Amino acid sequence: MKPIYHDTIVVGGGLAGLRAALELDRRNVKVALISKVYPLRSHSVAAQGGINAALGNHPRSYYDNWEKHAFDTIKGSDYLADQDAVIRMTKEAVKRIVELEHWGCPFDRNDEGKIAQRPFGGAGFPRTCYSTDKTGHALLHTLYEQIVKFRQVAERQELTLYNEWLVTRIVVENGRCIGLIGLDIKNGNLSAFKTNAVIFATGGSGRVYGKTTNALINTGMGMAVPYWADVPLKEMEFIQFHPTTLVGKNILITEGCRGEGGYLINNKGERFLEKYKDSKKAMEVAQRDIISRNITKEIMEGGGLKDPTDFASRYVLLDLRHLGEDRIMSRLSGIREICMKFAGIDPVYEPIPVQPGQHYTMGGIDCNKDCETQIKGLYAAGEAACVSVHGANRLGGNSLLDTIVFGTIAGENAANYAQGAIYGSVPPRCNNKDRILDDALKCENRKIESILNSNGKENTSNIKEELNKLMEGKVGIFRNAEALKSALNKIKQLQERYKNISLNYKKCKINLSLMWVLELKGSLDVAEAIIAGALAREESRGSQFRTDFTERNDEDFLKHTLAYYSDEGVKLDYKEVVLGPFEPKAREY
Ligand code: FUM
Repeated sequence: MKPIYHDTIVVGGGLAGLRAALELDRRNVKVALISKVYPLRSHSVAAQGGINAALGNHPRSYYDNWEKHAFDTIKGSDYLADQDAVIRMTKEAVKRIVELEHWGCPFDRNDEGKIAQRPFGGAGFPRTCYSTDKTGHALLHTLYEQIVKFRQVAERQELTLYNEWLVTRIVVENGRCIGLIGLDIKNGNLSAFKTNAVIFATGGSGRVYGKTTNALINTGMGMAVPYWADVPLKEMEFIQFHPTTLVGKNILITEGCRGEGGYLINNKGERFLEKYKDSKKAMEVAQRDIISRNITKEIMEGGGLKDPTDFASRYVLLDLRHLGEDRIMSRLSGIREICMKFAGIDPVYEPIPVQPGQHYTMGGIDCNKDCETQIKGLYAAGEAACVSVHGANRLGGNSLLDTIVFGTIAGENAANYAQGAIYGSVPPRCNNKDRILDDALKCENRKIESILNSNGKENTSNIKEELNKLMEGKVGIFRNAEALKSALNKIKQLQERYKNISLNYKKCKINLSLMWVLELKGSLDVAEAIIAGALAREESRGSQFRTDFTERNDEDFLKHTLAYYSDEGVKLDYKEVVLGPFEPKAREY
């Protein structure tokens, strides 16, 4: 069958994907955007607290600038971020915020009518621009409106949307990405797509954990697809645990609550962060890895409260009562609503029960500051990618910035590359693309048939549940060799059992159970890369705390981990960190 042709393809309809598609379109390159969900349902919509840029709009941040933002980001990363990439991101931040403002993003305003800023961890003063506590929602709708404008107002049909398609494979020939295979979830048909450049912007892999702020769609499949095609995943061991997720549901309770002045208290009503050396000074706006560890320590030392619905689960309290109803209603109305609907409490009158939960994947598809992967014509941006600007620990408010800045850069570079390919200046061109794509399509069809025809005894949810428990129990905030080795063994067993999954519903139309099976393979392989990286990294840095190697070890581990896929299991390699003006120092608190 002849493949469907588009000049360029973006995979993923969240902030990075939409921004990349807009950039391609703006540069007159035809683009198709393939998204597993309708773009406005992408996980970016759930981002709450804000987006960082050194605007200096608040009296306390008057002297802020990109250098300070870069330094805070690099220090926060425990010096594992590539400094050239961080400098690029922080330098571009203001321009991108102004662009979003001009596109109509409803940022909150200060008394002077300028974009309001709140403090988040890392800076210690207000640098985070926000739209109440629904910043991701505001940004996603702003970008989607631009997509609609390009498609309808300008009457350009050169930006094609494939909503509810799952990309299962990328096709590479002679080191170049020539296309991909996608499953139309609505009718179960697979199609081959031929293109000149592909951008992966498929989000994170938080759902390999059970207690996570991530949407169900964040399975890691978007990282696994390039990984299966020999693109390494970088820095996968660095998983961010957000200090405050709602007990029971693990919905995000934004850092904005603490930025606005909320307190964390233990079962005696004490602001316990002052007991710990590394959070004593910054208290509730210390960096996330530190607060998550200190909450866990406090709970282990008996300072937690019991979750009546789950006795294994302990929590602390986030107290906003002293902020008053007006401030809570104007700045944190979404949080109040979440608490009322999902926990039956009103934070105006009661403290919020919170515990750390998986929130962000610092690692991802290995790419450089131009969003180029090791495969020509394949780019990555957003949480799916690891540029790396977050290193071992990301600052709150930098993920939204990453999506917008590197979404734009990926779009720009993919546009240049695709134009070269279209007009013949990128040699050598592959003449057999259609046949190669057709072979890949047949191969994917056989894979799906074999899942549908399987009579195996395993089921997807059992394996998924075991994976989630395993990651939480053995690959959490505190790690050690023994637990990680046993996790690696268990993953191997789950991967074996995966081969015996069968489905109850075997039809093709909207077969979500088929999708879950396909994605579970991605989750298992990505989880294996996380565990292997964590085990090999015999040091504590940022979000990775090894109880058996409690110190940071720059001599041996100031380097990026690369994980390569192989049928026998993950293979690790390393690459240098790009250093720059900010010399690695011991972390100051
Ligand atoms: O807490 C938050 O609102 C999350 C922000 C972020 O992860 O950047």
